[in-house]
Amino acid sequence: MKVLLLENIHPLAVEVLEARGFEVELRAGSLSEQELLEVLPGVQLLGIRSNTHITQAVLDGAPDLLAIGCFCIGTNQVDLVAAADRGIAVFNAPYSNTRSVVELVIGEIIALARRLTEKTHKMHDGVWDKSANGSHEVRGRTLGIVGYGNIGTQLSNLAEALGLRVIFFDTADRLAHGNAQRMKSLDELLAKADVVSLHVDGRPGNAGFFGPEQFAKMKPRSLFINAARGMVVDNESLREHILSGHIAGAALDVFPVEPKAQGDEFESVLRGLPNVILTPHVGGSTQEAQEEIGYFVAGKLAGFSLEGRTELSVNLPAVLAPQLQAGHRIGFLHVNVPGVLAGVNGVLADAGANVTGQYLSTRGEQGYVVTDTLDPLPADALAKLTQSEHTIWLRTWDA
Ligand SMILES: NC(=O)c1ccc[n+]([C@@H]2O[C@H](COP(=O)([O-])OP(=O)(O)OC[C@H]3O[C@@H](n4cnc5c(N)ncnc54)[C@H](O)[C@@H]3O)[C@@H](O)[C@H]2O)c1
Repeated sequence: MKVLLLENIHPLAVEVLEARGFEVELRAGSLSEQELLEVLPGVQLLGIRSNTHITQAVLDGAPDLLAIGCFCIGTNQVDLVAAADRGIAVFNAPYSNTRSVVELVIGEIIALARRLTEKTHKMHDGVWDKSANGSHEVRGRTLGIVGYGNIGTQLSNLAEALGLRVIFFDTADRLAHGNAQRMKSLDELLAKADVVSLHVDGRPGNAGFFGPEQFAKMKPRSLFINAARGMVVDNESLREHILSGHIAGAALDVFPVEPKAQGDEFESVLRGLPNVILTPHVGGSTQEAQEEIGYFVAGKLAGFSLEGRTELSVNLPAVLAPQLQAGHRIGFLHVNVPGVLAGVNGVLADAGANVTGQYLSTRGEQGYVVTDTLDPLPADALAKLTQSEHTIWLRTWDA
């Protein structure tokens, strides 16, 4: 099988794919629609980052394509519905940069508590201002984590190791890590935290959820961090609370409107404020995260094309089938209408198949059933399934 990897994907992805027998072609940049149409015939797996746009037209001109790996977090650059309609799986790496975000936030908590940005600016201006005024240790302070998911929980663990007391609030039922304490409401957290750090997801209901009321409820001289989503915070209100001194410092990595291209001007009401750290959405941008993304997405592409596994696919029904260690596997992607599973099992029964495992998942208009058997299914039984009016594709694999 041929793999085409665009946009400087980490070499570890090549290593993973070559080790599993794929022929890999690497290209440094992204390709235009026209260029993709020229190179995609004959390619089974495509790896991209955020600059390659996979449109319906590109998919129509890629008859051999089985799956697309987005070696990044976002998948907006791919027409996911059109890909699903054609049975093409799309994968990404939603969690590979968790640790990078957490380390940035830990660094920011300490930098804000010590007012390091002001000190370093003065030093660069030639001013020696040695003073302990406004500088604090973080040990014993209370960190309030809003959104206790992948990033929130890992931050919880690292922060406790530093001697911070951790409290958290999440709208979902989340297990507390270590000695962290769940708060019953956001208000309770805001009343107790010396540092508030947001790690909520980008669901529409979270737009503007942290505004004047929430800043007013934070403790006087507390710190605020947002490395989650730009749209969740009212930055005008944050500005007012920093200027009034109610908030002693803030670190922002994400913004409601972010410049599109490298070098474009960054416009924000938060520019020029004291003890405010602004970073250009780099929370997850480290070499280690890139390596982890390379490893993770390459593994998903290999698992799908060699064993029919779709777990964590962003557009096909996600079936968590075990590794194929013995016997044979049939993957059947179909239109999700009643009776398909019964039909598949009827064919299996007629063929006298000894089924060792069966896994089903549906997503919207599609269903995916993976069946493991002791012996290969006879050709006429496979033909029956392939020719069903509900078939999108049928594939088989041997251990
Ligand atoms: N700065 C960066 O570069 C960067 C990198 C990666 C992720 N992120 C962002 O970080 C955020 C967290 O990522 P994650 O992987 O931990 O997500 P996640 O889905 O694992 O966790 C989000 C948590 O927030 C909770 N939540 C949602 N709305 C809430 C609300 N209003 N109040 C309280 N809890 C709420 C959810 O129940 C969930 O537990 C996401 O918004 C993600 O986009 C930023």
